[in-house]
Amino acid sequence: MAQRKGQVVTVEKLGNIALVAVDNPPVNALSHAVRAALTEAIEALDADREVEVVALYAEGRTFIAGADIREFGKPPVPPFTIDVCRTLENAATPIVAVIHGTTLGGGLEIALACHARVALDGTIVGFPEVTLGLIPGGGGTQRAPRVTGITSALDLITTGKRIGAHDALTLGLIDEIASGTPRDVAISSATAVLSGNLATRRIGQLTVTPDPDAIAAATDTLRKTSPHHFAPQKCVEAVAASTLPIEDGIAAERAIFLECQASPQRAALVHAFFAERAVDKIPEKGTPPRVLEALAVIGGGTMGSGITTAALLAGFPVTLAERDGESLEKGRAAIAKNLDGAVKRGKLSEARRTDILTTSLKTTTDLADLAGADLVIEAVFEDMAVKTEIFGALDRVMKPGAVLATNTSYLDIDTIAAATERPGDVIGLHFFSPAHIMRLLEVVVAQKTTADVVATGFALAKRLGKIAVRAGVCDGFIGNRIMSHYRKVGDYLVMDGASPEAIDDALEGFGLAMGPFKVGDLAGLDIAWASRKRLAATRPADERYIPIADRICEAGWFGRKTGKGYYVYDGPTPRPNPDVAAIIAQERQKAGIVPRTFSAEEIVDRYLTAMISEGARVLDEGIALRPVDIDAVFLFGYGFPRHRGGPMFYADTIGAAALVERIKTYAAQDAYFWTVPPLLERLAAEGGTFAALNAD
Ligand code: NAI
Repeated sequence: MAQRKGQVVTVEKLGNIALVAVDNPPVNALSHAVRAALTEAIEALDADREVEVVALYAEGRTFIAGADIREFGKPPVPPFTIDVCRTLENAATPIVAVIHGTTLGGGLEIALACHARVALDGTIVGFPEVTLGLIPGGGGTQRAPRVTGITSALDLITTGKRIGAHDALTLGLIDEIASGTPRDVAISSATAVLSGNLATRRIGQLTVTPDPDAIAAATDTLRKTSPHHFAPQKCVEAVAASTLPIEDGIAAERAIFLECQASPQRAALVHAFFAERAVDKIPEKGTPPRVLEALAVIGGGTMGSGITTAALLAGFPVTLAERDGESLEKGRAAIAKNLDGAVKRGKLSEARRTDILTTSLKTTTDLADLAGADLVIEAVFEDMAVKTEIFGALDRVMKPGAVLATNTSYLDIDTIAAATERPGDVIGLHFFSPAHIMRLLEVVVAQKTTADVVATGFALAKRLGKIAVRAGVCDGFIGNRIMSHYRKVGDYLVMDGASPEAIDDALEGFGLAMGPFKVGDLAGLDIAWASRKRLAATRPADERYIPIADRICEAGWFGRKTGKGYYVYDGPTPRPNPDVAAIIAQERQKAGIVPRTFSAEEIVDRYLTAMISEGARVLDEGIALRPVDIDAVFLFGYGFPRHRGGPMFYADTIGAAALVERIKTYAAQDAYFWTVPPLLERLAAEGGTFAALNAD
């Protein structure tokens, strides 16, 4: 008879076999209730003389998928996972775990504490803790190496990667693969234990062969691959302790786990994890989206080909429109190349690639052919006249109810919408390059955009596997608006004494994947040059203008594509361009500036303060809903280091009052650029935080 133990763990006795089922939908997270009920159930069954074997399995789509995210960042309440694991391992009655779905983190630790493990075919296992700034804290760093050896355990635990059941079997993490329902396999596995056909053992009693070379190699590799991250090195330290007797190793693991839990990186990584989910809370949340079956894209350049690829990979039929046959062919070739990349990465089969190119993708030079699409994304030149002309034409040809989206980077979407008789259907869907890879999608809501069109933008993002952030209309929306502001700081610093490479080094030291001058060289310096020329007439007279980048472009140096920019690309590693150093020296002299030195800290402080200041303005103006939306934009679209949580999260680690002080100090040199944003002023006065503004 099934007997309820609380609501989350069920015990069922079949003669001398006891089945323990975890039932904590949706993913059987190892919540406090599950930990407590599991401990209680195992203790009771271990004392029950009728029971000769216990099989632990889970109801629903997965075995325990890991910790309960609602408990993240909160003080843990006993029994801890480590206690449950100890109870399982020390039980006198043999316990077999039957795992399925995504058995990750604490779920895998529970399984490893049982005396045998059977996985359903298709099971995925892994230790994702490192991605949240932690180490596995339920004995995983001690038990995994006892079955896999040190090298494989290091690989799994320091990367957080997931592996399939067959790899897990090869590594020794599981003993058998079976098929059937978890309950049926639990019964057959328990029977196999009783008949001696499935061996049981306590992993904690095994010993690990010390491998100091593997430990040293992992430490060394991580110093290069994850120089800024705290947790991966801590994983190595914990795995190294697995050569100790189990209880000593577990004590070492516990101490290291607590150290990670107290680290600021941990809090930032948890914030980044939640940011991905928080951005989904929008005012239009309850509104049903429009039907999305067929898509259309206009413009098959850099962005259009990437957007088309993303849509095709997500299973949409797409019609791509271009100006002429030649441009269409270029677009088609770029899409085919992107799909080839997906095949190489194992994301797409050869057959599917061919199928997509022959049936799902249609091309045309006639906008009338897009009429049947449910949503069209315009990605033509960044030119208002071209865009309004296209939207006027779309208004005439598209079926009623079609969503008309623009991928513009900066232009006013209200003006674009006004070119149609149906501005309610017009929205900005701002993708990031390369559009089939980058996860961010800014959903830009114009004045007249209707709620169901916004909901459709979010629904599309989900189908494309992207993270949608709601933004309002302004020059550059959330991301590019803030970036245009802080990028100026790089130029000011160069003019005042720092070298471009010193600035890149300082910001890479902070954790940015690439410094701003290297990014400029990569993107092509000519693009920003064109935009500066376009804006020259309207540039405010008081704004400090640094002509260095113009001089570099005038010399024909556009970055990587011309072999020269801020750096020279003539070998395996770029080197600073000496001619740029000469231009900088001349411009400083012309402006009568005596260069001074800037420490890496001051460079980072100025750069981040500018980013945060503009972020505060974007919030105050309602362009972003919450600080966390800005964090998500920078984390998922601009390579902001995850372990710093995002610019607004980082702002709270400095504090509003300190930021206001900084701005006032910088304003002594440039009062036009450095002004205190009203929101920051208010937070400083009230002792408030950006985090508090994230609350519902
Ligand atoms: P691109 O120059 O690579 O591609 C534009 C394409 O539009 C060209 O292939 C051109 O033939 C086509 N086109 C021009 N007029 C057309 C018309 N009347 N009908 C049909 N096709 C036409 O430009 P890119 O970089 O792809 O940018 C496109 C849009 O996306 C711009 O609004 C840009 O601001 C925006 N964007 C660009 C990003 C980037 O990183 N390049 C990032 C996000 C947005």
